[in-house]
Amino acid sequence: MTLQGKRVVVLGGTSGIGLATAKAFLNESAQVVIASRSESKLSEAKQVLGGNVEGYEIDFRSEEKVKEFFSKVGAFDHLVVTAGEGAMGHFSELPVASAKEAFDSKFWGQYITVLAALPYLKDESSITLTSGVYGVRPPQGATTLAAINSAIDGLVRGLAIDLAPIRVNVVSPGIVDTPIYAGMPDEQRQGMFSGIAQQLPVGRIAQPEDIAESYVYLAKNGFTTGTAVLIDGGAHLV
Ligand SMILES: NC(=O)c1ccc[n+]([C@@H]2O[C@H](COP(=O)([O-])OP(=O)(O)OC[C@H]3O[C@@H](n4cnc5c(N)ncnc54)[C@H](OP(=O)(O)O)[C@@H]3O)[C@@H](O)[C@H]2O)c1
Repeated sequence: MTLQGKRVVVLGGTSGIGLATAKAFLNESAQVVIASRSESKLSEAKQVLGGNVEGYEIDFRSEEKVKEFFSKVGAFDHLVVTAGEGAMGHFSELPVASAKEAFDSKFWGQYITVLAALPYLKDESSITLTSGVYGVRPPQGATTLAAINSAIDGLVRGLAIDLAPIRVNVVSPGIVDTPIYAGMPDEQRQGMFSGIAQQLPVGRIAQPEDIAESYVYLAKNGFTTGTAVLIDGGAHLV
């Protein structure tokens, strides 16, 4: 299935995996709409991506704002959601409020987005959400993310049945070098990346472009629905 001329919304398309995914869809000659909360990230991303990209400021935790966003965007073909913030911390130490906040963002944000997008999609459309390898292979301190990612994987299986013939899938990445880790001191971040890389069968951590290809595949392949693409360099095996 060609993506040429298709309209693709990438919610979270201003950074990391979403930005690389917006680029990957543009390389397929799709028309791309990106959205996230920060005006400055939006304008930087639009510069990186080039002239024809539409951008909208939106916080996907607000049902009202997300509805308003899709009414402005109008009809489109494929939805990708990469927006979301998690929470790390040992189960006995992470405050319940932080776990709930993470669910509000990564789980409920994606749920709200799918619901609000429905009136603007077609039978041939696809929806691709984002979970993560911690859903199947959590390290210590990832209980909340394990729960959120598993909930998203489950949501996608249910949606693939409820929303058929619209196809619904999820990309589940391992560790990816993105601005999500920008808050860590450089040395600590590099140490974490190289420690993980040494353990992985592929010997390196992912770049956002590695993951972006999975979203393009899921939008293009008309026989794929209700499935998770686990793209983690073999992290689930070690
Ligand atoms: N990087 C990894 O190692 C990794 C591993 C497994 C899973 N993942 C998952 O992959 C997804 C993307 O991660 P990433 O590494 O690409 O992160 P990132 O570089 O921080 O990008 C996240 C994007 O989501 C947007 N966003 C966050 N909260 C939002 C909200 N409430 N409303 C609208 N937009 C929002 C951000 O823009 P604004 O700040 O402007 O809103 C940004 O564009 C996340 O769900 C993450 O959990 C990442």
